Amino acid sequence: MAYPITRMRRLRRNEILREMIRETHLSVKDLIFPLFVCPGKGIKKEISSMPGNYRMSVDVLVETCKEIRDLGIPGIILFGIPEKKDELGTGAYGDDGIIQTALRKIKKEVDELLVITDVCLCEYTSHGHCGVIEKGVVHNDETLKLLSRQALSHAKAGADIIAPSDMMDGRVGCIRAILDANAFSDLPILSYAAKYSSAFYGPFRDAADSAPQFGNRKSYQMDYANSDEALREVKLDISEGADIIMVKPALAYLDIIYRVKTKFKVPVAAYNVSGEYACIMAAAEKGWISGDDVMLEVLYSMKRAGADIIITYFAEKAARLLQKK
Ligand code: PBG
Repeated sequence: MAYPITRMRRLRRNEILREMIRETHLSVKDLIFPLFVCPGKGIKKEISSMPGNYRMSVDVLVETCKEIRDLGIPGIILFGIPEKKDELGTGAYGDDGIIQTALRKIKKEVDELLVITDVCLCEYTSHGHCGVIEKGVVHNDETLKLLSRQALSHAKAGADIIAPSDMMDGRVGCIRAILDANAFSDLPILSYAAKYSSAFYGPFRDAADSAPQFGNRKSYQMDYANSDEALREVKLDISEGADIIMVKPALAYLDIIYRVKTKFKVPVAAYNVSGEYACIMAAAEKGWISGDDVMLEVLYSMKRAGADIIITYFAEKAARLLQKK
């Protein structure tokens, strides 16, 4: 039935009608807040390229976690900045590492907050790559051994979900095996399955001081020209035991979120990464866009594409805004 019988504008006449027929919803319960933890005490240092986000010492982090929980945000994802970096990223898997220490403290003092840990070596290696370097390249299978140790140490310290972000082949299977062998068979894995080699990670690398010191990550992270390959990555990770699949970044990759959700019908997380956050914040600061409105529009687009979970530096801002509505 065409115009004039059909008039699409009838149901757009007011907000009650619009709300009644809205197809997608954004809730604070969809959001996960990324947080950076560093050594020291009483430290809360704003990350210049990510205004409103901080490097925090464990004591400050614990208080922040309580505020986040009280806002209704269901969880955080933790990234660590170690005291020292070295060739093998030893700060990543020791029981006294920064993440392990933070985890134990959060688990003791903050209840009802899901803590996801990022498993990767780049924040801990002196060369800034996500694995062990042999003859100038990241060695896949040697890296798997260290990632497995890191995952197990997070599990022992109380992580609620393990999230490998390194993009080595076979890591999900290795991590599943070591968790299962150590009585952690109930611990879920959120796999960064389709993780692209992206310039949108710039501000994160400032925050974690983790930019590669030579070369780039193109030999392990995906080429942004590809999408069938993302489906192969996802299929492999599901077969190795991934419980939730991540697509990262999110905004320039909504087609990937859509294809993954449509094809596999598994829980999908979108990572709205640091550069996506920085672009919006910078334009808003200049007064060129309305930051809050663009933020909501972007978060809705991820839900519309098929994301169940959104990991975003906007989590706190969005939670406050959604509370007011
Ligand atoms: C670790 C990791 C990175 C991000 C999440 N986990 C950096 C990278 O791969 O270079 C980026 C997140 C962001 O940009 O917000 N490998």
